[in-house]
Amino acid sequence: MFCDAVAMARGELLRKLFRSFSHNEREAFYAAATELIEEERKKSHTLLARDLEKILHNGNGHGKSLASNGTFHKYYPEVPRDRETGFPLVKIQRYDLTWDAVVLSQTNLAILEETVLENRKRDTLIAYGLKPKSKLLFCGPPGCGKTLTAQVLAGVLGLPLLYIDLTTVFSSLLGETATNLKRIFDYIEQTEWVVLFDEFDAIARDRSTANEHGEVKRLVNSLIQLIDLSKSESLFIAATNHESLLDEAIWRRFDEILFFEKPSLDQRLALLKRYLTSIRYSDVNLKKFAKELDGATGADIERICTDAIKNTLLKDDNTLSSDTLKRAIARYQGRMRIITDSERRRETQDCERV
Ligand SMILES: Nc1ncnc2c1ncn2[C@@H]1O[C@H](COP(=O)(O)OP(=O)(O)OP(=O)(O)O)[C@@H](O)[C@H]1O
Ligand SMILES: [Mg+2]
Repeated sequence: MFCDAVAMARGELLRKLFRSFSHNEREAFYAAATELIEEERKKSHTLLARDLEKILHNGNGHGKSLASNGTFHKYYPEVPRDRETGFPLVKIQRYDLTWDAVVLSQTNLAILEETVLENRKRDTLIAYGLKPKSKLLFCGPPGCGKTLTAQVLAGVLGLPLLYIDLTTVFSSLLGETATNLKRIFDYIEQTEWVVLFDEFDAIARDRSTANEHGEVKRLVNSLIQLIDLSKSESLFIAATNHESLLDEAIWRRFDEILFFEKPSLDQRLALLKRYLTSIRYSDVNLKKFAKELDGATGADIERICTDAIKNTLLKDDNTLSSDTLKRAIARYQGRMRIITDSERRRETQDCERV
């Protein structure tokens, strides 16, 4: 009797699943699929439940087509929004990227590959009472690949990237910030992601700073606790270019800390090659240009290459010349001079004011 009822309920669920699929009702399909996964989980078919969940959320790993059609977000539950402004608190993106997309130091690459392996072989580690690395801190100057690396990790792990800009979360009223964080974490719990907390310093300011006491201290603590208590098998990444603002208690919470320095000579050469792949060039001494680019970031080198490629194409040419690349580098250097001069002027004005 009981078995019959169970079989009927299951039959009804399968009907819902098939009906919603054939009627292209994505929300209903998602709800039925989620129910089915929950059933499997209750029956202690944990591995199957997890696999089904991954397939449901991540498709076949070819995220581009999903991300580019307008219905992409409907594969996921509706995202939480700031109650005051109505802005979404999280953004979901799929990335079809591999390690080739980013130029990394040997040290960082080794840590990241290890992290990916640990997460892929999670079950083996768990069987021995161990946990894979799940909390990474990315720091270093702007434009050196922190965000890009988080995107690559998401691509390599075949997980969606859940992007959270903490300046947005933190900009609303203090009371509301705590609620926002709670809602973000409730959302995270629903599946497995690579979660990127960008501009982490917006919330994790040194807790001992005199003007940051009380409410902010409480919020920093709750963010850390929320990460620690999270049952989601997600990989958490916090990124900042103001690492000096983070206090010791926060550093200690991360499994790995990666510093993204400005690229070395070899890395600059790799970046030039990486961003010039779409164009032909023969007599261009990239090593010489890489030497001239000491101090440039990955973002600077990408811009220089894009400039040079555009200039080549606009001349109805399809082969990059040394001169064109030289001119693009000269423009970058001119730009840097303007920025440095204006920074110097601002510092002088600040000193005069004091
Ligand atoms: N190491 C790198 N390898 C390849 N491309 C890079 C690298 N660093 C920067 N870039 C290029 O510059 C762009 C900007 O880099 P990214 O957004 O990852 O910097 P960031 O470190 O997150 O900076 P910010 O601190 O300002 O957020 C990237 O999308 C990429 O095109
Ligand atoms: Mg960034």
